[in-house]
Amino acid sequence: MSSALLHLLGLCLLLPAYSLLAAAQTAPAPQTIRLQSRVVPVEATLRRRALNPVTVPLADFFLGTDLQWFGNLTVGTPPQTVSVVFDTGSSTLEFASTLCGAPCDNQVKFDSSKSSTFVDGGTTSSITFSTGVGVDPVVGANYRLTLRSGRDTVGIGGLSAPATSLFLITNQTAKFGIDPFSGIQGMGARAQGLFASLVSQGLPSLFSLYLTPKAVGNAEMTVGGIDSTKFAGNLTFASVANANSNTWSLTSPQLFVNGKTTTVLKASRNVIFDSGTSNILFPTATANAMYALISADIAPHAAEPGAYGIACDKIGSLPAVIDIGFTSQNGVAFNLTIPSSELNVGPFADNPAICQTLINAFDGLSLVGGSVLKHYYSVWDVGGHRMGFAAI
Ligand SMILES: *[C@@H]1O[C@H](CO)[C@@H](O)[C@H](O)[C@H]1NC(C)=O
Ligand SMILES: *[C@@H]1O[C@H](CO)[C@@H](O)[C@H](O)[C@H]1NC(C)=O
Ligand SMILES: *[C@@H]1O[C@H](CO)[C@@H](O)[C@H](O)[C@H]1NC(C)=O
Ligand SMILES: *[C@@H]1O[C@H](CO)[C@@H](O)[C@H](O)[C@H]1NC(C)=O
Repeated sequence: MSSALLHLLGLCLLLPAYSLLAAAQTAPAPQTIRLQSRVVPVEATLRRRALNPVTVPLADFFLGTDLQWFGNLTVGTPPQTVSVVFDTGSSTLEFASTLCGAPCDNQVKFDSSKSSTFVDGGTTSSITFSTGVGVDPVVGANYRLTLRSGRDTVGIGGLSAPATSLFLITNQTAKFGIDPFSGIQGMGARAQGLFASLVSQGLPSLFSLYLTPKAVGNAEMTVGGIDSTKFAGNLTFASVANANSNTWSLTSPQLFVNGKTTTVLKASRNVIFDSGTSNILFPTATANAMYALISADIAPHAAEPGAYGIACDKIGSLPAVIDIGFTSQNGVAFNLTIPSSELNVGPFADNPAICQTLINAFDGLSLVGGSVLKHYYSVWDVGGHRMGFAAI
């Protein structure tokens, strides 16, 4: 099971590749650290020993479609490798540990007893997930992570953050075991945990994602910088909708599908960017308005509330270009474009003749992820409260 966590207004939603929707009983207490501006006072600069950006390779979790991208951290002393999804929809770090028995057996487990720097935080919490929609129906099931708080040294690409707040997974619903990674590193819009520590050591307060389709490969994340070898044109920057929020979201004045718009699609909305989610989510009326411009044959999939589908033999030829309009910091309109090739998410498990379509209905939220991000180089400027995009 994919496991991107979106912490939104105190609510913790699981909005992963399979678009499960979740509510936290007890969300892991995020470690909140004062925002670091990228433009730091001179004295602070002099006191600091600047860190240089590092780039880490990312692997693609692909199941019929590109679901999530994950890479390695090291945790503890001596360092143990822990693979995580770098998830812009959440903020904390959690991963499988040896405190978790059989349910975590398919994953590499961190052994805190072998780390001389591990400190037990003493608190236990859990996150439960109720199902929403996805290619792998789990209606009625409860998905749960049980967590134990702690602190340890966390490293990435040779950079190191001592005494970083983290959560050990001590139990999980067995189905999480299909994840080819051990956990999640939240990369929310306010610096916390690992990233905040690196920024306080002098790393520039931004990171960049190059999330490629599996066929292209070489996906990577650069922490503290921008890898300008990965795109040709200019980056276009837009200010985040709310500079105080931990959520990466931009205000979109308008959506277009196949070059057309409607009254419903012309509404201004804040669109969340979640690298841990592959489908896109819009309120039901918006989803229906979008599908109306694609095909009358796309229908809600009864087995999974919020999911839609169409006969797999009809989906391949459907034009479904989605342009999400934004406005740059310079006041210039630009679109982020999802090509027609993203429409097909793959066959439903309960009916393989029906293929799930990209847009999920979810009232109260507009959210995009991998299906748009993999067509752009993206810069997540934490200190500058803005996001940058360049076509790749
Ligand atoms: C993570 O590290 C393991 C070895 O510890 C390596 O096999 C794997 O390729 C690494 N993954 C990535 C995405 O770099
Ligand atoms: C682990 O979680 C499963 C499923 O939620 C539950 O049935 C089981 O009792 C839990 N095991 C422990 C040791 O808490
Ligand atoms: C990039 O920006 C520079 C400076 O504003 C401009 O001269 C150039 O034409 C731009 N390139 C593209 C591909 O838009
Ligand atoms: C955005 O896409 C729509 C629909 O294709 C198009 O009409 C509009 O001109 C585009 N806007 C920009 C700034 O490219």
